[in-house]
Amino acid sequence: MTIVPPVVLAHLNNQFTSVVVAAHTGVPYLAYVGARLAEDEIDTSLLQRGVLGGGLDVEVYPWLIAEPSKGWMGRPGIALRQGSSSTLSTAFTLHSATTSHNELTLNVVDHSLNISIELILRLENSGPLTISTTVHNASDMEISVDALRITTPVGPSCAEILTLGGRHAMEAVEERQTWGRTRIALENRTGRTSHEQLGVVFAGTPHFGEQHGQVWGVHLAWSGNFECVCDSVTEAMRVVQMGELLLPQEVLLAPDAHYVAPTVVMAYSSQGINGVSHQFHNYLRSFSAPDTHRPVIANTWEAVYFDHDLSTLCQLADVAASVGIERFVLDDGWFHGRRDDTAGLGDWWVDTSVWPQGLTPLIDHVRNLGMEFGLWFEPEMVNPDSELFRTHPEWALNGTLSEPILGRNQLVLDLSREDVREYLFASIDALLSTHEISYVKWDHNRPLIGGASHAQTVGAYALFDALTTAHPHVQFESCASGGGRIDMGIATYLDRFWTSDSIDALDRLEIQKGVTKLIPLEMLGSHIGSPTCHTTGRKHALSFRGATAMFGWLGVEWNLLTLDEREREKLSHVISVYKQFRALLHTGNYIRHDHPDTTMHIHSVVSSDAREALVSVSRLHNGPSHRTAPLTLTDLSPDVLYSVQRIDLGTPRWALHRGLPDWVNNGVHATGAQLAHMGLVLPPLLPESTMLLHITQVSR
Ligand code: GLA
Repeated sequence: MTIVPPVVLAHLNNQFTSVVVAAHTGVPYLAYVGARLAEDEIDTSLLQRGVLGGGLDVEVYPWLIAEPSKGWMGRPGIALRQGSSSTLSTAFTLHSATTSHNELTLNVVDHSLNISIELILRLENSGPLTISTTVHNASDMEISVDALRITTPVGPSCAEILTLGGRHAMEAVEERQTWGRTRIALENRTGRTSHEQLGVVFAGTPHFGEQHGQVWGVHLAWSGNFECVCDSVTEAMRVVQMGELLLPQEVLLAPDAHYVAPTVVMAYSSQGINGVSHQFHNYLRSFSAPDTHRPVIANTWEAVYFDHDLSTLCQLADVAASVGIERFVLDDGWFHGRRDDTAGLGDWWVDTSVWPQGLTPLIDHVRNLGMEFGLWFEPEMVNPDSELFRTHPEWALNGTLSEPILGRNQLVLDLSREDVREYLFASIDALLSTHEISYVKWDHNRPLIGGASHAQTVGAYALFDALTTAHPHVQFESCASGGGRIDMGIATYLDRFWTSDSIDALDRLEIQKGVTKLIPLEMLGSHIGSPTCHTTGRKHALSFRGATAMFGWLGVEWNLLTLDEREREKLSHVISVYKQFRALLHTGNYIRHDHPDTTMHIHSVVSSDAREALVSVSRLHNGPSHRTAPLTLTDLSPDVLYSVQRIDLGTPRWALHRGLPDWVNNGVHATGAQLAHMGLVLPPLLPESTMLLHITQVSR
């Protein structure tokens, strides 16, 4: 039999990566996503796979939309049905391919079904490859889209998969799995991005780490249900298939209607996970102009919970302003009937029993202190005990059932309804238009059940879009019981994520280590809480809490009225140190360090010109030795002379010793090469303490 070579459709390059898109017998696929290649022509016989005995007499490639009709034996890339038919057998072929700069637009058509799909593949200057897909029903029948999964190849030598997930108040914990001859599936059916599973996988060469190994990261920019299959079984190729998880009838396309699938964002690096994260971060940073002045926040939740009282909150604001806080955010509890979490959601007007003169006196007080004001909402939800629900039970999903399942005493509003979205827009817009509000914390405190995820997510995006367009100067935060909705889909509309309801500094180091793989520091809300953490009951020193929270968008969530003068001074010092480094933290390259000692946690931010860095070294828990491997810094310029100085956030705690290395107290000068290869001998940090180092170029 004759083996027909594929045809190269496009060869896209940026500074990190090359992407080769080819077609075989008229069907497009990603032939290569990996290290940058020279722009030379590719001899297409390099791409041929051949046909083996014992199988089908066709060559099988990792088609972007992999179909059984082409011989694909893995998870199909598309599943369509017409009326009550079983899944249709599709056969899409290339209709057109147009390239412009680093963007390739493919149109594939199934002529017998009259369905076309447009795929836009763009290799972003910031790094990642994005794949955006739209299915168009050109037939005269209604079509149900039951699945659309994009197939992306990762390196053939990938041997491990790293995923991120956990639970409420312990999100984004790493899980590593061996990826042999296996198919690993991730599924999210919670209707929001979820605490249990972030929509991202990292596939890499054996033992890949933060700073080494070849790594491919694949993310679905979507805030609803998703599925991801890492398949090394089908044809012994290693592919990741990503798409929205659709339940039957969830997406019904009338004639001429479209289904816009969530964008797949993929990045490759030969420098470990950090290299992929830098591209993800730069991609998110490319959405808007750099903001190096994100205000330090005081959030009232863990300070007063539902106990709203104007005089107390004004006093809290006074202390907040005095320690350097720049924005005061009134959390849950301000609106009609909301005295606890059993009632009120949906009634978005100020509760006059608690706020007889409305919010204006507090807002004026806050603004007179020179701070901005922010307000909490949970727009997508309704309590059965609310005016809204009593008037419109039909607006809630399952609201007319006799015993609907509640989550935190609440139901979900049907955001696919225009009247619901209009009501929410009008309620929130009225508050934002009549008050000096700079910031909205947008919460989402329960999972969804049933097949509403697609329409809800599209509806929520539409509402976000309308509100952010109407109020371009208001910043928005996405919260979902902490980090239950963190993804690049929703990131388009907002400025900040509430990373986790746990502000336990020790847990936060782990959570932030996970979530920063996808999201840059400046978008991750990170608060200094009370000395005893409310969610874990663990006690930590301010220097440890402060050093941990600094690597993010800093806030304080602590009843500041309980602090004495000395504690206020210490907090004020921590905040001033953060402000000194805020621009570096929010524009630099963030690096999670590999260190042989697993009791150590090291991370740093290096400015893009490598003239300055901030390094954080923590000991998480006790280990067999106080001595540990030196701190090496590999992202500085080898020939440049640097000064290393310890930053005092309150004394870090040392184990018993009779002398520390001089540099710990007096600083040291060393070249980038010395810091990379010899490193700094680390002092014996005690558990749950952090040492911060400031590295600056010495001018010669
Ligand atoms: C969620 C959020 C918290 C807080 C409460 C208010 O749990 O994650 O930060 O806003 O809701 O009810």
